Amino acid sequence: MSSPIEAVRGMRDVLPDEQRATAYVRAALERTLAGHGYLPIDLPIVEQRELYLRKLGEELVGKVYEFSFGGRELALRPEWTASLLRAYVANMQDQPLPLRIAYSGPVFRYERPQRGTYRQFTQVGVELVGGPAPRADAEALALACAGLDAAGVGGYRVVVGHIGLIRELLVGLGLEERTQGVLVWSMERMRVDGLDAVRARLGETIAAPPPGLELPAGLDDDQAAAWLLGMLDAMRIDLSTGTRSPQDVVARLLRKLRRGDQQPQIDRALDLLSRLGQLRGAPAEVLPLVADLIAQSGLQSAAYAELRAILALLADHGVDQGRVEIDLCLGRGLHYYTGLIFEIYDGDQMQLCGGGRYDDLVSALGGRQPVPAVGFAYGLERVAAVAAAPPPPEERVALVAPVSDEDYAYALDVARRLRLRGFIATVDVRGRTLATNLRDAARRGVGYLAVVGAEERAQASFVWRDLASRDERRVALGEIADW
Ligand code: HAM
Repeated sequence: MSSPIEAVRGMRDVLPDEQRATAYVRAALERTLAGHGYLPIDLPIVEQRELYLRKLGEELVGKVYEFSFGGRELALRPEWTASLLRAYVANMQDQPLPLRIAYSGPVFRYERPQRGTYRQFTQVGVELVGGPAPRADAEALALACAGLDAAGVGGYRVVVGHIGLIRELLVGLGLEERTQGVLVWSMERMRVDGLDAVRARLGETIAAPPPGLELPAGLDDDQAAAWLLGMLDAMRIDLSTGTRSPQDVVARLLRKLRRGDQQPQIDRALDLLSRLGQLRGAPAEVLPLVADLIAQSGLQSAAYAELRAILALLADHGVDQGRVEIDLCLGRGLHYYTGLIFEIYDGDQMQLCGGGRYDDLVSALGGRQPVPAVGFAYGLERVAAVAAAPPPPEERVALVAPVSDEDYAYALDVARRLRLRGFIATVDVRGRTLATNLRDAARRGVGYLAVVGAEERAQASFVWRDLASRDERRVALGEIADW
């Protein structure tokens, strides 16, 4: 059993030095987002578990901290986007679009802890709700870069993909929606584990009908449904007793049987995707190759033009083109994306930021009408870990040391006056000697010591010692107001 003084496994205590450095980076990011017109919002950490069931993607759903409480199924938020869009649908649908919203706060994922990967971490991010492609996408991408610049992160790389483009190509190849879905979200697997792993995955989720159980060739869907109904009827299978209507049963059967017909398209799709996956690199080099591949495959892609437009706008935003890389097999863990997706990495392959466009989420959450949206989130701890060390704070820190107990109330007054002049001031609560207070002040990096004894009290003054220069002088209380 673990000891109750240990943090829960995988959770971290953030001590003041780290907290201070992180707060500095957080402030730089938040200032940048605010400067671009993004208004801060705060939302509950606890959400209904159901919010995450549909659009999050199986990988992340498996990492959600879930619990039952008072008969409710709840979850700790694993990210902000779903919560924010939930709040939009609940409270903000009447507001004029676009809405630019920023957030900053803890999220929870049950991950294997490793360098830069925690079970509780902080996301700082934005959502641009009601912002269509390509301009809103470029704004989000450029803003993500601007935040990193402001935090003093150098040498980062922006990797850009486009889920809409992949989907369009799969539709063009005639793949049905479920197969498309599996393929779209398997691209990362294809790169890491190879094509066979993706084939195996397709086999697991989309079982083809057993050999021999095939539809007669050349029937359209209506004809095929009629044929199936006829077959079931001939076999005296009564469909009227189940929970589904006979039409529904037949439509499902039909979809299953049709999957058997899809093998040639699936093979073409896998071939196309693996070739697309090899096209990675600078936009100027890769975009023409993508265009060629699309043309050779006899397909059309409006998303390709959109991606080009986003990248051109990014240059207009002043983003250094040398940082940008296209990777059409970029796979994000989240499944609500519909268009642009991107990730930003530091020089050590650590992902600092991720985001993209998700045009269906408002509808999926029950919004009155579809609303296009795009956004991103930084992992604050990761950004802070690679941000340039913060400049030494210009804080002036003073310790007020009462000589005896009788001087304590007066010491509090001196500290109050110092704070009004912008000092960070503490008063010794341990009743230490002057020598001990001096040692303590030096150890903590305190800049000034204000000593107050009976004489200072009588003269409404204090002794002010600059610990760096060792200058010491008597200061009248009234003088502080002029500092
Ligand atoms: P995400 O890529 O899953 O996107 O997370 C955003 C960032 O959080 C990552 O880029 C990474 O820096 C950081 N991060 C992720 N997991 C961990 C972890 N276990 N420990 C530390 N840092 C981590 C999202 O969550 C989307 N909601 C972003 C978004 C907003 N898309 C559209 N709008």
